[in-house]
Amino acid sequence: MESNSGTYNDNAAASYEEAKKLADDIMVKIKCRPVVGVICGSGLGELANMVKDTEIMGYEEIPGFPVSTVPGHAGKLVFGHLGGKPVVLMKGRVHFYEGITIQKTALPIRIMKLMGVKILFVTNAAGGINQTYEIGDLMIIKDHINMPGFAGMNPLHGQNDERFGPRFPAISKAYTKRLRDHAKVTAKKLGFEGFTIHEGVYCMLAGPSFETVTECKFLNMIGVDCTGMSTCPEVIVAAHCGMEVFGLSLVTNKVVMEYDSDQIANHEEVLETGALRSKDLQKLVAAMLETLDV
Ligand code: HPA
Repeated sequence: MESNSGTYNDNAAASYEEAKKLADDIMVKIKCRPVVGVICGSGLGELANMVKDTEIMGYEEIPGFPVSTVPGHAGKLVFGHLGGKPVVLMKGRVHFYEGITIQKTALPIRIMKLMGVKILFVTNAAGGINQTYEIGDLMIIKDHINMPGFAGMNPLHGQNDERFGPRFPAISKAYTKRLRDHAKVTAKKLGFEGFTIHEGVYCMLAGPSFETVTECKFLNMIGVDCTGMSTCPEVIVAAHCGMEVFGLSLVTNKVVMEYDSDQIANHEEVLETGALRSKDLQKLVAAMLETLDV
């Protein structure tokens, strides 16, 4: 991970006071008071172009803010109005595989919370595990598997600060039905054609290597529809601090399910599909915000 000169150990989870100071410092420089936070996944940063009255801060301007090194992740906080709502967009996010702790990947969510954000929209590029999913389809996330959590990597690992949330938070309703239903109604009104919007289960693997064939078969067996290398840490931390979450995956590729297949996963394909479907994803998010009760 590239690091900007932080005031504390770059890889440690920020304390409440440190996160509060970062949020306060940002709010001194920015007029917008966001109520919705949006994370733009790989190749989906174009969403930021729809924001009106923009005020922009580079991640490197915020001491201790994790800066991504991955192509397709610009590294800017974009404040303004989207669908008439005050929002903050993360144009680019940092991933666990970049060498950062899982706690630190979710620090931006706590900063958002302390800036007044109530609802988190999270988008990602993902591999289609479900064999009925096609490249370019969207998936409303109804639940997730935080696979790194099975090996002890949970963003809430460590001392708990009750000012953020409880020691043992429930995560089973993180992706609220209200927002999933709102997405379905909005998508229907928009009358998209040429791709399908599914509802399914997202699984995070740590990456950065793509999955083996057997790992894909295993994920398919346990009920996963899409897999990627992000999202779960941010969603867990958002649910912990009482935010409502809406998650959307763009199926950028079909995972390899046959041994000795000639097909191989690659990041270029992920970015290409992101560019193709990005307009529809933008339309859906903006239209959802227009009619959303915050
Ligand atoms: N696997 C993991 N992460 C991904 C994929 C994939 O196939 N596609 C986009 N992100």
